Amino acid sequence: MRCKITKSKINEFMNFGQMPLANGFLNKEEFKDEFFYKMSVGFSEEISLFQLNDHPSPQKMFNEKYPFFTSGSKFMINHFSEYCTWVKNNYLKNGGKVIEIGSNDGTMMQFFNNFGYEICGFEPSKSAADISKSKNLNTFEEFFTENNVKDKLKNSKYKIDAIVAANVICHVPNLIDLIKGVDYLLTKKGVFIFEEPYLGSMYEKTSYDQIYDEHIFIFSISSIMKIFELFNFKLVEAVPQITHGGSMRYVIARKENDEIVENLNLQKQLLHEKKKNLDNIDGCLSFKKNCENSKLNLIEKITSIKKKGKIICGYGATSKSTTVLNYCDIGEESIDCIYDTTPEKINKFSPGKHIPIKDFKEFYSNYPDYVYLFAWNHKEEIFKKESDYKGKWFSHVEI
Ligand code: TYD
Repeated sequence: MRCKITKSKINEFMNFGQMPLANGFLNKEEFKDEFFYKMSVGFSEEISLFQLNDHPSPQKMFNEKYPFFTSGSKFMINHFSEYCTWVKNNYLKNGGKVIEIGSNDGTMMQFFNNFGYEICGFEPSKSAADISKSKNLNTFEEFFTENNVKDKLKNSKYKIDAIVAANVICHVPNLIDLIKGVDYLLTKKGVFIFEEPYLGSMYEKTSYDQIYDEHIFIFSISSIMKIFELFNFKLVEAVPQITHGGSMRYVIARKENDEIVENLNLQKQLLHEKKKNLDNIDGCLSFKKNCENSKLNLIEKITSIKKKGKIICGYGATSKSTTVLNYCDIGEESIDCIYDTTPEKINKFSPGKHIPIKDFKEFYSNYPDYVYLFAWNHKEEIFKKESDYKGKWFSHVEI
C-alpha cells in the first residue's frame, strides 16, 4: 500500500474485513447487488499519517443518495454557530470572502451569511446541496478539486480570505489536489481552517468506528503539520473540540505569512502526541490490540443479554455503526432494529448486516430492554431527550 500523500510504500497493520458503504442504507431488492470492499488501514511513519487502504470512489459515496445532513443534530447546529463566531473573532474581524468545502445542507454557511460575509460552498451530494440552495446559499454541486475551483471561481484567484471545512478534509483521498485548490484561492494572508475527528481521541476511546469508507484519513496534529509543510503552508494552531467523540480544529496559513505566528501551545501539543505514540507505528499496534479486545467484549456482552431473552435495539443509524456491526458480525439475530430520525434511512436496512431502520417515533411505544447507542458522540443530547427510557444504554465505547 502507498501513502496517499508522499507515495512511499507503507504497510497495512490492521484488516477489518469486508465492508459495505458506511452510508449505504438499502432496500431489500438491493441486497443481492450490495457493494463490499476490504477495509484495512496503514500508517505512514514519514508523515505520521493514519490512512485507509482501499476505499470506494468518492462519487460512489457522495451523490444524490447521500443521507447525512448536518442539521440533524441540534448540538451540531449550535457547534457550527460557535465555529463561525470563533473564525470571525480570531481570523476574520474585518469581514471578507469565505468558501466552505463540503458545505452539506448549508448549516454553517448560513451563519457566515448572517454575519455578512460573502460565502459560497462546494457540496457534491445533490441531496444536501439541494437543501443548501433552497436556503438561497450560493452552492456549487461539485467536489472541491483544483479543476473545479479554476473552472467555477476563475476570478477569485488569491482573493479568498478564509476557506473553512468541518468533517470533510479527511474524506478527500486526493488531498494534494484539494491543497492546490486552496493555494489557488487564498490571499497572501488567507487562512484555511478545518476540523476533523482526532486520532488521539480515537486511540483513547478505542472508537474504531471512526474508521469507514468516508474517513480516508484520521488526522493528528503531527500529520497535519507534516502534510502542509510539504506544500509551503504552516500549521499555526490546533484547538481540541468535543464533537464527533473528539476532534481537532486546525488553522493553516501560508509559510511566508509573518503576521500569523505559531500558537505557543503547538510545541507542547506535539510533544504530547509523541508521548502517546500518535506519530509512530507503536500507537497503531496498541490500538489494534484494543480493537480486538473491544470486539470480544462486545460480542460477549450481546451474547449474554440475548441468553437472558432480552430485546436489544439500536439508537442512531450512524455511518460509524456500519463498521461496528460488520467488524463484529452482529445482525438482526441480536439487534431487532435501529431507530433513527433521518427520513432517507427510515424503512431501509443497515449496510451489510441488514438490520431494519425504524422511525425514532416508534421507539416510544416499543421500549426495549437494552439500547445500543450507536450515536454515542451525541449522548448528552440523546440522554436528555430520552430521559423517560428506564432500560439500559450501552455501546462499545464508554458512555
Ligand atoms: P452522527 O454520529 O453525526 O453520524 P455519522 O456516524 O453518520 O457521522 O449521527 C447521525 C445519525 O444519528 C443520523 O442518522 C441521525 C441519528 N440521530 C438520531 O437518530 N437521533 C438523534 O437524536 C441524533 C443526535 C442523531
